[in-house]
Amino acid sequence: MTTPQTILSGIQPTNQITLGNYLGALKNWVKLQQQYRCYFAVVDLHSLVTARGGGELAANSWYALATYLAAGINPAQACLFVQSHIAAHCELAWILNCFTWMGELGRMTQFKDKSVKEGANIPAGLFNYPVLMAADILLYQAALVPVGEDQRQHLELTRTLAQRLNKHCGQPLFKVPAPYIAPVGAKIMDLRYPHIKMSKTATHADGVIFLSDDADTISRKIKRATTDSGRDISYDPDNKPGVSNLLVMQAVLLDLPLAEVCSRYQEQSYGKLKSDTADVVVAALRDIQGKINTLLADRTSLRRILDTGSAQAQATAQQTLNRVRDTLGLLPLT
Ligand code: AMP
Ligand code: TRP
Repeated sequence: MTTPQTILSGIQPTNQITLGNYLGALKNWVKLQQQYRCYFAVVDLHSLVTARGGGELAANSWYALATYLAAGINPAQACLFVQSHIAAHCELAWILNCFTWMGELGRMTQFKDKSVKEGANIPAGLFNYPVLMAADILLYQAALVPVGEDQRQHLELTRTLAQRLNKHCGQPLFKVPAPYIAPVGAKIMDLRYPHIKMSKTATHADGVIFLSDDADTISRKIKRATTDSGRDISYDPDNKPGVSNLLVMQAVLLDLPLAEVCSRYQEQSYGKLKSDTADVVVAALRDIQGKINTLLADRTSLRRILDTGSAQAQATAQQTLNRVRDTLGLLPLT
């Protein structure tokens, strides 16, 4: 039997997990865990860039872990861990920083967008963010990285860095990873401003569905979603971003082809589309929400899952890091 390939992905515990994270990332992880050797991290160091350790970082990290499990990640199949528990991530990130050009980081769309919001003091961590992400991925020799559309450019940089170091060192130190971006659901849009992606840090909470929202809140947000001019219901993200977003949510949650969902709304009103979408989302999240609460109430079991995951992650990451250290001529630890 051949060894399965490796997958790695992560979500930041900044604020709470959104429906966008669930549909664009988490739901795919659950499908992929059967066929691959999986590592799923709560990427808390990435969160520090914007959350700066304030607010609810610790609580959000537990919540993220509980959400992974509640969504269907099986800790007997996948390794679950917290990024900051594995020191190798920061060590490899430093090394990779020495092989990353400022121009490459300055071109990252996410950096350009987010740095505008930071004002005069742009944290260096925001600039170097994709390098830490590359370290997360390369340490585990991941072949595939399931993410939403917004991470495509970061993945491209990760590939460039893997190839650059492999070439520099004259040996295949790193597997060159590929993104796994689902054809439908990889960019769930804000309900209020459907031309921008649904994001944990949106200015208006009304545009974002958090997995922790109760049924009434979810229904209210969807019923107030911005729809488009005209009356017909069709999938046309450029001209009908609001309507298309709701169709996509249903298609992914019901596991149906988009065309089939669209065909159900010939001759139907926007109101009907909204109330059906609200019902589908509420039903899908109800089960997950119940499980999250049960899991959060048993911190001892969550801690045990993390301890097991950390030990596994630590062993794999250290192996890669030691090879890199040796190759670059850093003195061995012992
Ligand atoms: P983040 O919230 O930035 O930690 O994102 C975690 C994962 O969710 C990444 O794979 C993102 O690409 C994905 N993601 C975030 N927002 C969305 C969205 N609106 N639609 C689809 N995927 C998303
Ligand atoms: N940058 C990703 C995001 O904002 C989160 C992330 C950090 C990640 N490290 C990763 C995703 C490694 C996949 C693999 O969405």
